[in-house]
Amino acid sequence: MTNWKHIDQNAKRWIAEAGEKIRNSFDSALSIQYKSNPNDLVTNMDKEIEQFFIEKIQETYPDHRILGEEGYGDDVTSLDGVLWIIDPIDGTMNFVHQQRNFAISIGIYGDGIGYIGLIYDVVHNELYHAFKGEGAYMNDIPLPKLDKVNIEEAVVGINPVWVTENKRIDYNLIAPIVQKVRGARSYGSAALECAYVASGRLDAYLTMRLAPWDFAAGLVLIEEVGGVATTLKGEKLDLLSKTSFFVGEKNLHDHIIKEYLNR
Ligand code: IPD
Ligand code: CA
Ligand code: CA
Ligand code: CA
Repeated sequence: MTNWKHIDQNAKRWIAEAGEKIRNSFDSALSIQYKSNPNDLVTNMDKEIEQFFIEKIQETYPDHRILGEEGYGDDVTSLDGVLWIIDPIDGTMNFVHQQRNFAISIGIYGDGIGYIGLIYDVVHNELYHAFKGEGAYMNDIPLPKLDKVNIEEAVVGINPVWVTENKRIDYNLIAPIVQKVRGARSYGSAALECAYVASGRLDAYLTMRLAPWDFAAGLVLIEEVGGVATTLKGEKLDLLSKTSFFVGEKNLHDHIIKEYLNR
C-alpha cells in the first residue's frame, strides 16, 4: 500500500531544500536559453532543480514515475501508479526578470487521483500545501473553504494577451469578463495563481493553454477548499495534455461559464 504520509514528508523536505538552492543561486550568473521562441525561457536552475527532484524520487521510490516540464523524467502516457508531476520553476520569466513571483509546483497522484499538492513561493517562503481529505494550508495556516463571490466583486487572474487578438480564443468572449469584474490581475505563474485562488487572494484564474505541470498541484489545493477547476468549456481537465484552464470559487466559475464562455 502507498504510504502517502511518508511521501508527503519527503516531498516537503525536498521542496524546502530546492527552495534554498534557488535562493542561493541569486548570487551567481544565470545561463538563459530559449525554448520554442525568444519569450519562452529556460535557465540552468530550471534544469538543475528538476534533476534534483528526480534523483531524490528515484533513489527513494524507484517504482514512482515522474512527469517534469524540462523532460528529465519519464515518458508518461498513462496515470497508472504513483505519478509526480513537477514544474521545477513555474514563472521562469519572472525568475529571470524579477527574482520573485515564481514557484516550485509538485502534484502527486495515485492512479489519477490527486493526493498531495505543493506550491512553494520560494522568495516569500510561502508553502501552499494540500493533502487529500485533510484540507489546504499556507505554511501552517489552514485555508478556509471559499465563500460565494459575485462577479462584480471578483478579482480575477488573466494574462492581458487574451483580451487582444490572439490565435486561441475570440477576445470578444473574454473582454466582457474583464469589464464586469472588480479587478483583473496577471502574476505570470499559473501555479501561484492557483494557490492565490485557493487562498482567496484571487477569486478565479483563467487561461487558454497550460501544461499538466502548471496546474497538477493547484488542482489538489483547489479541491480541498471547495473550488472548481475545468477547461474553459467547463469540461474535466486532462492531466496528460495541454489544455485551456479555468479555476475559481464555484458560484463564480459556474456563472462565468454559463453567461460568458458558453454563449
Ligand atoms: C508558464 C507560467 C505562465 C503561463 C504559461 C506557463 P513556466 O510556466 O505558468 O504564467 O502563462 O503558460 O508556461 O514556463 O514559467 O514554467
Ligand atoms: Ca517553461
Ligand atoms: Ca509552468
Ligand atoms: Ca517551468
